[in-house]
Amino acid sequence: MTNKILILPGDGIGQEVMIEVEKIIGWFNSNKDFNAEIEYGLVGGASYDADGVAISDATMQLAQKSDAVLFGAVGGPKWDDVAYEHRPEAGLLRLRKELDLFANLRPAICFSSLSDSSSLKKEIVEDLDILIVRELTGGVYFGEPRGIEELENGNRRGTNTQVYETWEIQRIAEVAFELARKRKNKVTSSEKRNVMESGLLWYEEVKKIHQEKYNDVELDHMLADNCGMQLVRWPKQFDVIVTDNLFGDMLSDVAAMLTGSLGMLPSASLGKAVNGLFESALYEPVHGSAPDISGQGIANPLASILSFSMALKYSFGRNKDSKLLEDSISKVLDDGSRTKDIADDGDFISTSEMGNKVIENLEILNKE
Ligand code: IPM
Ligand code: MG
Repeated sequence: MTNKILILPGDGIGQEVMIEVEKIIGWFNSNKDFNAEIEYGLVGGASYDADGVAISDATMQLAQKSDAVLFGAVGGPKWDDVAYEHRPEAGLLRLRKELDLFANLRPAICFSSLSDSSSLKKEIVEDLDILIVRELTGGVYFGEPRGIEELENGNRRGTNTQVYETWEIQRIAEVAFELARKRKNKVTSSEKRNVMESGLLWYEEVKKIHQEKYNDVELDHMLADNCGMQLVRWPKQFDVIVTDNLFGDMLSDVAAMLTGSLGMLPSASLGKAVNGLFESALYEPVHGSAPDISGQGIANPLASILSFSMALKYSFGRNKDSKLLEDSISKVLDDGSRTKDIADDGDFISTSEMGNKVIENLEILNKE
């Protein structure tokens, strides 16, 4: 059986970091019978330059047929003036929507050897391990009506719609509760029920499904603004946070920064599971295309490599291989290897040297 992987490097440092991911896949092919068959496609600005769209129908078909999509990053100032529907981000949103990737898992883990890099005090973030479960195919990102219109009085009006139906809330809540059971068994659900009816519905539905199916899991409800504040005040109070598309976008950036290393954080966007494995899935680093440093060979490839490690676990059921890869990365960090973003003004190594270090440590740990 071959494992079909589609690599979409995208723009900026996305292209550089995905080269390192390919090396890692190659290692698993040679040493662990991983049997990956890789295809490549364009997305974002790169796709716009080639095809005039942020992702082509042909690439969408490849994505539909693959077991996992590995995504780099999209965007950059070069495409600031392209028509809104063709902006680089539209490629990512189309993938999420058409593959029905409704569950976005964003772990915020503070590697102990990096706990000095956070802007928060060491004791607040040391050993932090929280998971944000963000609803990814609904809410204001996709709600209708939307648009900008001219009004008769000369003003213009911009509209977006925050809308959720019960089934959308239920399915993401189930993902959060299931994941919590494998962790510290606690879920915090976050919305703005004090202002928005969609938030009230969210609150009621999460509460209901908890009572019906998951009352062994501890559940808290927290208004989204307070949740942002609590994340910075005392992040270790959280285990799993479940929230909607827009709040999840913001809260996951806050959580990411707690760890002091945006360049280290992976994510998984998952569709429906069949027998515990996700049939469609996209894995991407939380960081963006970073046009300011692209082309210099200094980007940190670890977030993308950790995203592949999530793919090993969620799409291919290879928990041991996933752990081996994570351990190799921890060891690389413990040994003091740093890319520029996490170097604290000390010595740093290049993107490709970091990829090679991970491979060296895979070799070592694999023999143990
Ligand atoms: C993210 C990004 C995207 C989002 C952008 C690139 C469309 O910020 O994945 O968090 O807003 O979802
Ligand atoms: Mg974001």
